[in-house]
Amino acid sequence: MSQTLRIIRPDDFHLHLRDDAQMQSVLPFSATQFARAIVMPNLKTPVTTTTMALAYRQRILTALPDKLKKDFEPLMTLYLTDNTTPDEIKHAKNCGFIHGVKLYPAGATTHSDAGVTDIKHCYATLEAMEANSLPLLIHGEVTDPDIDLFDREKIFIDRVLEPLVRRFPKLRIVLEHITTEDAAAFVTSAPDTVAATITAHHLHYNRNAIFQNGIRPHYYCLPVLKRERHRQALIKAATSGNAKFFLGTDSAPHTQSMKETACGCAGIFTAHAAVELYTEIFEQANALDKLEAFTSINGAVFYQLPRNKTVTTLRKEPWRVPETISYASETLVPLRAGEIVHWKATSTP
Ligand code: DOR
Ligand code: ZN
Repeated sequence: MSQTLRIIRPDDFHLHLRDDAQMQSVLPFSATQFARAIVMPNLKTPVTTTTMALAYRQRILTALPDKLKKDFEPLMTLYLTDNTTPDEIKHAKNCGFIHGVKLYPAGATTHSDAGVTDIKHCYATLEAMEANSLPLLIHGEVTDPDIDLFDREKIFIDRVLEPLVRRFPKLRIVLEHITTEDAAAFVTSAPDTVAATITAHHLHYNRNAIFQNGIRPHYYCLPVLKRERHRQALIKAATSGNAKFFLGTDSAPHTQSMKETACGCAGIFTAHAAVELYTEIFEQANALDKLEAFTSINGAVFYQLPRNKTVTTLRKEPWRVPETISYASETLVPLRAGEIVHWKATSTP
């Protein structure tokens, strides 16, 4: 008999859903896998106000297929800019649907041009977030072109994050999609107000994947994949049982044509197989007993959300990922395209 696991239905604490027809294409994958998802605000026009976040939430709810309407709840976020006001933070908190505020250093990644140019501009707003218990979600990379791409996360921690944690001791902070042993060590030793999400792709691949017999744009994301020793540190953190680490896929769809080009976009699509990809890692690390805490408990506790009531069953059952998935009028190439995934998840009420 094949191996079977039952876990509380997981949540995705970092997800890109995009908008309109593109959202319509990718939303069913996440809504099938996850009970809730923290939805990133980096749309072409960034989601900078409560009004915009509520309208986006409504578009997501409308786009959910009927059979998934009761199964998925989008947890909205605001996009922090130099001009976000403390009043906007109060509105966001009071509306009850906004669960975090995202800091993109300006220029760090996709649609981050409107991001923060200097964190000092945001101190009053961060105070309001601290006072209203609204978490700060961080893309933790410096953008200084003089800094080597592979060092940007570590230098962000030293220059920006460490002082920020000291200045705002009650502010809950999620360092998103950590990629280095430095980040894992920082979060481990930081106060309990600091947590981190880890993606499936950073657990599965090191930077060699980007250059395997040629350039492989579908392994390009930001923060970029790092050395093997960093991947090993991430696996150790994720499978440790430490409540500061939890699931955030950073599943980030781009059209095949925008990836396979001279200047390809950053982002890896994993929503089609996210829970299964994490399960593979926990199995390889002999830590399947720690999977549920990482996928379904730690994040909810940190975000002060109730535990999901439904269950996901995971069967050790090989299946082949399609070469492409339709994405509005185009296609996207999912992670593991054409390859085997070794577990299959199904949800039961
Ligand atoms: O690889 C990434 N893609 N990293 C990000 O930070 C943004 C994301 C996207 O929106 O495509
Ligand atoms: Zn992201």
